[in-house]
Amino acid sequence: PEETSYPESIHKSMLHSVLAGGKRLRPVLVIAAFEAVGGNREDILPFAVAVEYIHTYTLIHDDLPALDNDDLRRGKPTNHKVFGEAIAILAGDALLTQAFYLMTHSGLMGAIPPEKLLQAAHDMTGAIGTSGMIGGQVVDIESEGKPIDEETLEYIHVHKTGCLIKACIRAGAILSQANTDQLEALSNYGEQIGLAFQIVDDILDITADESLLGKDIGSDVDKGKATYPALYGLDKSKRKAEKLVEDGITCLEVFDNRAEPLREIGRFFLQRTF
Ligand code: IPE
Ligand code: IPE
Ligand code: MG
Ligand code: MG
Ligand code: MG
Repeated sequence: PEETSYPESIHKSMLHSVLAGGKRLRPVLVIAAFEAVGGNREDILPFAVAVEYIHTYTLIHDDLPALDNDDLRRGKPTNHKVFGEAIAILAGDALLTQAFYLMTHSGLMGAIPPEKLLQAAHDMTGAIGTSGMIGGQVVDIESEGKPIDEETLEYIHVHKTGCLIKACIRAGAILSQANTDQLEALSNYGEQIGLAFQIVDDILDITADESLLGKDIGSDVDKGKATYPALYGLDKSKRKAEKLVEDGITCLEVFDNRAEPLREIGRFFLQRTF
């Protein structure tokens, strides 16, 4: 939809968050996994766009006053700050809906066997529901200000963030018709780097430069969030993230140099400053 399509407010709101920037890591992961198994990125671009819409929906809702109540996202005021809560909620809903419109895009049908598209979309749906991302967000919110144990903390991080990251990698693999061993290796890689990604997100909430990060710093401590640094301290959290990425990259041993982008992305997860 165009920014000026009727009703204008919702399209302006959706585009505000999608076009604000962001690292585009999830579409990149779909493409990198697709290419590691031998595909050619042009064949799955609508699917790659779809996962960025899903991710952006989770960010808009995560920032709402009822959840994290944050003011800054991707270097811009959060969606509800600009468009109000009602439109921000609907923009999240609309992006999620539009994602499924894109995942079932007719343009994908020629290059990808329909049963693979169905499998990838089904897998993605599981990853973002109550046994995936939403489950993690629920426990994140319900754990605010409470003492936290290792198991619950890992549940939160694996689910709120890891599940979507892993599903992006699995989607690329499934769409590329990966065999069972390849899919398992990529799933294991995704599981490790997905958790590492959220640990680093927690670390950056403490150590990053706000203007580089593009979101409010110190917001986790303010809200008494369950984070890795809160439970383990910064150093131990960093070491955990490093170990996860190292193990994740080891899972890729069965792949040739077409998996090099995936290995690089793992390293980037540790080095990033935004
Ligand atoms: C932020 O994700 C939210 C988390 C799941 C930790 P990103 O750090 O990938 O955000 P963008 O897309 O670059 O803005
Ligand atoms: C958000 O985790 C995870 C999802 C949006 C699903 P955070 O609340 O830590 O993400 P940021 O720090 O606001 O980006
Ligand atoms: Mg949150
Ligand atoms: Mg947040
Ligand atoms: Mg965070």
